[in-house]
Amino acid sequence: MHQDSDIANLQNLPPGELGLPILGQTLQFLFDRKFAEKQYAKYGAISKTSLLGRPTVFMIGSEAAEFVLSSHMDSFSWKEGWPDNFKMLLGESLFLQDGEEHRRNRRLMMPAFHGQALAGYFSTMEEITQRYLAKWTEKGEFNWFDEFKKLTFEIASQLLIGANAGDDVERLSKLFTTLTNGLFAVVPFNLPFTSMGKALKARDRLLQHITQVVQERQQNPTNDVLSMLVQAQDEDGGRFSVEELKAQAMLMLFAGHETTTSMLTWFCLELGRHPQVLERARQEQRLLAKTGELNLEQLGQMPYLDQIFQEIERLRPPVGGGFRGVVKPFEFNGYHVPKGWLVLYSIMITHKQKDIYSNPDQFDPDRFSSDRQEHKQKPFSLIGFGGGARICMGIAFAKLEMKIIASHLLRNYQWEVLPSQNLEPFPIPTLRPKDGLKVKFQPLT
Ligand code: HEM
Repeated sequence: MHQDSDIANLQNLPPGELGLPILGQTLQFLFDRKFAEKQYAKYGAISKTSLLGRPTVFMIGSEAAEFVLSSHMDSFSWKEGWPDNFKMLLGESLFLQDGEEHRRNRRLMMPAFHGQALAGYFSTMEEITQRYLAKWTEKGEFNWFDEFKKLTFEIASQLLIGANAGDDVERLSKLFTTLTNGLFAVVPFNLPFTSMGKALKARDRLLQHITQVVQERQQNPTNDVLSMLVQAQDEDGGRFSVEELKAQAMLMLFAGHETTTSMLTWFCLELGRHPQVLERARQEQRLLAKTGELNLEQLGQMPYLDQIFQEIERLRPPVGGGFRGVVKPFEFNGYHVPKGWLVLYSIMITHKQKDIYSNPDQFDPDRFSSDRQEHKQKPFSLIGFGGGARICMGIAFAKLEMKIIASHLLRNYQWEVLPSQNLEPFPIPTLRPKDGLKVKFQPLT
């Protein structure tokens, strides 16, 4: 029998429609790019819908993001939130762990993404970048999304699991593309012709490769991230098991290149569209170049490039939002959300709040200049890397890599966005221009 308070709570659910039985509003969510935006315009920071048979609430805006990512994060589970496809394809990795297990593993992995270790990645990142710049010069015209994917995957696979340039990287990169296509597959059936079936096959091949590398690193650690994880010990002397190492390696490879590819592509597209911004960014680089070759110290002296990347993060966030399972019922803005429901917090629409960002649809890196700092008006207004205790673990790695690539592009190259292509944003699996960005590329004259 219901208690009176339960009934009162159920009457106090967030506004919105649950849609059709079983399917709910899944199709609108997947195919109407403005679905979440319309929910926000109609109902505000919290509203309900139903996705694949599960009652779901959208949580949008800085206050909602702070609630989910920080102040009430104990009400939420990552494992219970992200779709089953993620579990099947990416395994029991950090991304899908909660509580003590997550805290212990994040502590073990963190040193590989900060401080000394991070500084040690500079030369590999730069060396691989230089090789691609020479290749692009030779090619003259290409699709930049595809090329950035190869470049960032080569950097990730070399630094994370010590893969050799060449066949290994090319083959693994293709397998990852197939795996990624399965993450948001609407038909999650394992048949040879479905994207899920193909993704599972790609996962098995990747795991075969990764298992072999894990065994090699256990016998002979090198200087890649996997070797650090093989040797990492918790306070009780415990280490990662082989199964854990495999899952964490898969996750790092996946997370370590899809997102940076997206941001770099938008960086080049927006600069191609905004010549004045491009010229100011080049000027900043010209001044620094006078003091010598690119180095770590110089990377810390590029405030305008930082502003541009913040604006790309805001306007073109690679990850549009994050799923959570509700493990403790909660109240937000006076509405009750029961245990077992799904929460989807929005990054994309939080970045378009009109009370924080002036002309939010406009590309304007100066909104982050020291005298404007629009995002500082409220915490959790710029959340392209998530936020709170579980902020993206690779944030410093990604920023280092993107700034090295961007600095070289700005110092020595020019590009022209070719006509007759569809550059509309397409959100899945990470935000990209629909046709990927075809350009004409050459050294600066
Ligand atoms: C432009 C680049 C990147 C963007 C925009 C990005 C974005 C994000 C976001 C939004 C989250 C949080 C998702 C949520 O709250 O549900 C996240 C988490 C994570 N990211 Fe990234 N990411 C980037 C690069 C990387 C790289 C390079 C790595 C590793 C090599 C990485 C590893 C991770 C991991 C392990 C988590 C889960 C952290 C945890 O749960 O403790 N990311 N990332």
